[in-house]
Amino acid sequence: MVAQMGLNKFYSAIDYMLETISLANYLLFSHFYSAFSICFGIGRGKFINKKNYLRNYLDASGSFNLLLNSQINNYAAINLNNTDIQSAENYIGFSETIRQLFNSEEKFYHWLAGIIDGDGNFDIRKSTDILARKPKLKSIRIKLHNRDVRILTRIQNYLHFGTIITAKNKPYSIYSVYKNEDKIFLINKLNGLIRIKSDSFKKACSIYNIEHIEPNYNISAYDPYFAGLIDTDGSIVFNYNSNRIECNLEFKYNSYTSKLNLDNVIPNYKPYILLRTHNANKTSQRFKSIAFKFQTVKGMVPLYEYFIFNRLYSDFKFYRVTKIKKFIEIRKYQKSDFHSVEFKIYSDFVMDWIQYQNPLWTKVPFVKNLRIK
Ligand SMILES: *[C@@H]1O[C@H](CO)[C@@H](O)[C@H](O)[C@H]1NC(C)=O
Ligand SMILES: *[C@@H]1O[C@H](CO)[C@@H](O)[C@H](O)[C@H]1NC(C)=O
Ligand SMILES: *[C@@H]1O[C@H](CO)[C@@H](O)[C@H](O)[C@H]1NC(C)=O
Repeated sequence: MVAQMGLNKFYSAIDYMLETISLANYLLFSHFYSAFSICFGIGRGKFINKKNYLRNYLDASGSFNLLLNSQINNYAAINLNNTDIQSAENYIGFSETIRQLFNSEEKFYHWLAGIIDGDGNFDIRKSTDILARKPKLKSIRIKLHNRDVRILTRIQNYLHFGTIITAKNKPYSIYSVYKNEDKIFLINKLNGLIRIKSDSFKKACSIYNIEHIEPNYNISAYDPYFAGLIDTDGSIVFNYNSNRIECNLEFKYNSYTSKLNLDNVIPNYKPYILLRTHNANKTSQRFKSIAFKFQTVKGMVPLYEYFIFNRLYSDFKFYRVTKIKKFIEIRKYQKSDFHSVEFKIYSDFVMDWIQYQNPLWTKVPFVKNLRIK
């Protein structure tokens, strides 16, 4: 079966799997690898690179999101038996029901819709051709800080089109899609999933005579759309006074963001909704915002589970959420004596958490409360 697929196809299958499976466990992977080695005496060198790639990848993220099941079914060549798959999956702890909610393609496009609703843009321009009258969609773009450029490379690698350009003297990169066929392809895939950039998305649909599908604003359990929003506009923060890890999302208040219902996306964890008015100053006008705040101690486990199912591609945010489990074990040490071993453990944890890829950690006010050697 593998032989029929051809090596290259098999390698791209592996790449594809790596994309979808952000957490594979070694037990499972080693079976996968030995099965592969048995099938092929040759081509090992190339494969070993892939293996190292996976190892590095795992070490970097330090976490798992094992969704091998569907991939294994698709690439049935892999010699894993049910027991192995079961034990690996149980280890990660997802029920069959949750795993089957979204197939890997849906997972990607729902996530991408969240990315675009966060930091994307449908660049609609007036047509220069007076006779044509219709506006034009110049490009579909996503602009992100260089720190999160991996989000853009993931999109480009998945779609196999679009370009990434890095701004010269600014810390930003932009992914753009200019070709008509690619724009049409994307609009069709995202139709019914774009909820916030709706004005320009509707125009884009009409430019290509695509019938706009009204999205559902009641985001369903484990929908990857929310991960896309967090990857771009969300924040994972440490609230020292309340001794918890929180997840926040804030938008300008408008007819679209006010409809967004995130009550069900993380099972057992409803956000607190905060409406605020931001006062005008020289650089900005007065505006209203809507914030979704996931900020309870009990909610930390459901939050963690959501992001293990839908990993973030913003490395520093993902790092922060993957530490929740460890935090739950040691958070009680915040109240321990300053000179105790317990408080040292607590301080080490929090310091690691706030220092990770954060050039501004010294500005964090509660650092002064911690015990640093
Ligand atoms: C399948 O699972 C059983 C039970 O764990 C194990 O003993 C066996 O080695 C596995 N077979 C293969 C081919 O991996
Ligand atoms: C939103 O969807 C959930 C299921 O995910 C359902 O139970 C709930 O009633 C819906 N809420 C509204 C306001 O439609
Ligand atoms: C002006 O207001 C905006 C939005 O509230 C804020 O982000 C910005 O920092 C403010 N600028 C100054 C100079 O206060």
